[in-house]
Amino acid sequence: MSIGQAVALGIALVVVLSAAAIFTLAYRREAETKQVGTLDKAARRRSRRAAPVVAATAPALEEEVDQVEETDTSPPAKQEPIELSPAEFGEARRQFLNRATGASFGAFLAFFGITSLAFLWPRLKGGFGGKVDAGDIAEIKAAIFQPDGSIEPFYVAEAKTFVVPFDESVISETDFDGIGVVVEGLTGLFQKCVHLGCRVPWCASSQGFECPCHGSKYNAAGEYEAGPAPRNLDRFALEAVDGRLVINTGSARDTPRAKRKTVQYPQGVNCL
Ligand code: FES
Repeated sequence: MSIGQAVALGIALVVVLSAAAIFTLAYRREAETKQVGTLDKAARRRSRRAAPVVAATAPALEEEVDQVEETDTSPPAKQEPIELSPAEFGEARRQFLNRATGASFGAFLAFFGITSLAFLWPRLKGGFGGKVDAGDIAEIKAAIFQPDGSIEPFYVAEAKTFVVPFDESVISETDFDGIGVVVEGLTGLFQKCVHLGCRVPWCASSQGFECPCHGSKYNAAGEYEAGPAPRNLDRFALEAVDGRLVINTGSARDTPRAKRKTVQYPQGVNCL
């Protein structure tokens, strides 16, 4: 996983945790508010009952108790609706708006976090953006080198990469030295033109890559040859693991226009 992906994953986790914290706080505040409201009503009821007892004289109290006993068997009185003062109504409305705003914000954060994780998930498992197993190195070389001495790039669709030969005997004279892009005499070129991003096709007759959008040309090693492209084709870090070529598509390298070309171009008729 590249640093960029790790940062994005960290942001997504923070967002999800923030959403969870907001929901938890909102729930606790609502529970506290409910508890306070229950106590207030209960206290009001107690005080309403207590007031006549304090004020009443003994005979009046006995009379009242008799009346209560007489009316005990009757069905409970219908609860009267509680009327709210304008201040109480305003308070209730403010609470509702606060909760609605908090819930909307929390839902947005949760949605953002989940979609970010969903976006990153395939990259963590592999595929473009992660490490791609291109295949057995011997078989890749057998597919590249043609009987007539020409080459045909080995295309790895999952990595959007052309695997091509690279002459390691001259790598110290190039900008590709020490950046991990050449392994076992092979290098992996990202298919995207470094000018404006068109996919660059292979031209078998000239033995190079020629961009159909604005005419940039690169030789078989992906080195800049002509056109508006500002540099060589970008390439990915490679590893050889148990005889297999692994392309790290989360780790692209760019290099300036090559001064020292490692392969001749063109070797025949251009396609453009
Ligand atoms: S996008 Fe390839 S030359 Fe412009």
